[in-house]
Amino acid sequence: MREFDEKSITRAVIERLSECDDPRFKRIMTALITHLHDFVREVKLTEAEWVTAIEFLTDVGKTCTDKRQEVILLSDTLGVSVLVITLNHPADQGSVESTVLGPFYWDNAPDLPLGSNLAEGVKGEPAFYSGRVLSADGRPLQNALLDIWSGDGEGNYDMQIPGETAMKARGRIRTDAEGGYRFRSIRPSFYPVPTDGPVGRMLRKMGRHPYRPGHIHMIVSAPGYSPVTTHLFVAGSEYLDSDAVFGMKESLVAQFDRHPPGIGPYGERMETPYYTVSYDFRLRPA
Ligand code: BEZ
Ligand code: FE
Repeated sequence: MREFDEKSITRAVIERLSECDDPRFKRIMTALITHLHDFVREVKLTEAEWVTAIEFLTDVGKTCTDKRQEVILLSDTLGVSVLVITLNHPADQGSVESTVLGPFYWDNAPDLPLGSNLAEGVKGEPAFYSGRVLSADGRPLQNALLDIWSGDGEGNYDMQIPGETAMKARGRIRTDAEGGYRFRSIRPSFYPVPTDGPVGRMLRKMGRHPYRPGHIHMIVSAPGYSPVTTHLFVAGSEYLDSDAVFGMKESLVAQFDRHPPGIGPYGERMETPYYTVSYDFRLRPA
């Protein structure tokens, strides 16, 4: 057949995959074509809407730089990133749950001794984090690595602060013989995902806010175990119920206990109120 109507076009496009020798790619493209055509038929897309969509996607691509990934932000805000993560890291396999990596990871954060302050000179209320890294069956994992990063107490990551070129509120900590870790940072605040590009315009048009609840990021890994990209969320933070990127998981919500000024957990004098947080991470074998 050389000419197609609004129904036969789908089969025709799929038939052009007959020479494709990669079965997984063929399956993905067949499903993509099927769903895309069904979507266009379902909403009866107008030509003007098609042009708008093309301009939007073009703009999303053009907004990407070596420091900004607007395509991932689009995936994040449409819930696709978390869907992929959740399908590939089911919650019931004895490991801490995974969530989004986000755009603010910076490779090669400094290796710091246990108990270090990651947030020297960073705005925010002090918080002392501690806990253990364990195997799924509860054995302590010595020399596990926590690669940690967060924004400050006002919701800004170092790379978002004009003129800031140094790494701030980042560090890599290894567990001791009991699988224990401890470090000092700040209690993170909620903050908006970048809204000055096409994804921001999309969120406003959808009537959505751009905020993520307060959280600290970490990639937890140990030799022989599957690494996990995850967060700890601040219990009681605003936007826990409506994370703009759908990354919130109940199992990752941690209590931040507030203490008055006095002697802190490492015996130092704390002039301001501070928080303590305790959380154990479990990893499953690779
Ligand atoms: C973040 O948590 O850093 C983040 C995640 C997804 C999109 C934007 C920011
Ligand atoms: Fe974040």
